[in-house]
Amino acid sequence: MTDDRKVLVRVEDLKKHFPITSGIIFSRRVGAIKAVDGISFDIHQGETLGLVGESGCGKSTTGRVILQLYRPSSGRVFFQGMELTALSDGELRLLRPKMQMIFQDSYAALNPRHSVGKIVGEPMVIHGVASGRELKERVAELLALVGLNPAWVDRYPHEFSGGQRQRVGIARALALHPSFIVCDEPVSALDVSIQAQVVNLLQELQERLGLTYLFIAHDLSMVQHISSRVAVMYLGKIVELASRDELFDTPLHPYTQSLMSAVPVPNPKVERKRRRIILKGDVPSPAHPPEGCVFSTRCPLVIDECSRIEPEYRAVRLGHFVACHRVGPGW
Ligand SMILES: Nc1ncnc2c1ncn2[C@@H]1O[C@H](COP(=O)(O)OP(=O)(O)O)[C@@H](O)[C@H]1O
Ligand code: SF4
Ligand SMILES: [Mg+2]
Repeated sequence: MTDDRKVLVRVEDLKKHFPITSGIIFSRRVGAIKAVDGISFDIHQGETLGLVGESGCGKSTTGRVILQLYRPSSGRVFFQGMELTALSDGELRLLRPKMQMIFQDSYAALNPRHSVGKIVGEPMVIHGVASGRELKERVAELLALVGLNPAWVDRYPHEFSGGQRQRVGIARALALHPSFIVCDEPVSALDVSIQAQVVNLLQELQERLGLTYLFIAHDLSMVQHISSRVAVMYLGKIVELASRDELFDTPLHPYTQSLMSAVPVPNPKVERKRRRIILKGDVPSPAHPPEGCVFSTRCPLVIDECSRIEPEYRAVRLGHFVACHRVGPGW
């Protein structure tokens, strides 16, 4: 559906391994946490790509490595055709305004000693784009844009509710007119009643300002509403990626199928037929991922070759990518 659209962000075989070291004086590298381990995908201009997976599978690291808040261990990231991974820190600084991040824990992300006006205005002060009266006006405009009363500019984060604080974080992220925003579980910490309001706000802003999102969540129901396409992550890898409708109608990877079986279906007939797939065991440590397929220790469809050969991540239909030996031609 969105395949012919312009690519805004391209990720090529991206890896981020955090070293595990031992020794206090002479620290020695004894292993690595393979937080992100060779992922490739595009994000199209104006779309929302949902990124879903259990806690610890590498979602936040993916967001940070795309934005170059962490430099990758290997692989490449392109933004508007520019290779971010080849830019110096100075060159990246000039591009920073265009790429922003919204965090899950808005309270930790906002300085509690700064007024909301200062928090929202700070990126403009740092980048020297506005000052004095113009800065005040722009802050008021941003607060109104996210549905907050501009008269609250002198209030402090603790005076706001969780949902309002998330709006402050969104206003701050919008201050420099970004085109791409990584939304890292932006509603996971909020009351269910507030979640929809913030998701709706993000959608409205996307339409109004022409934004492109990578929207991270730990369960599928959270991305269903907002995403145009969805990528499913497990232990540092993307195991499946497809348009939202295709992924929900025809999940092909056994891991996606198990996640899907946990999503409540509003239709009671479908709900009665729904088969819960309970996975055995826990997610292995990213310091010691299984050989072959990363999902092989928990997969209900595992066969001999799964624990020996890593399945190739490839398109099985137009725009539908899967990494599984048992999906595709021959099965
Ligand atoms: N700065 C870091 N140093 C070392 N390990 C990290 C760091 N950040 C994340 N990790 C590890 O990388 C893995 C993926 O983490 P993360 O990207 O935060 O996952 P998610 O966002 O999906 O919960 C986890 O095992 C986590 O402990
Ligand atoms: S490759 Fe094998 S272990 Fe991995 S998801 Fe497919 S069937 Fe399961
Ligand atoms: Mg995270």
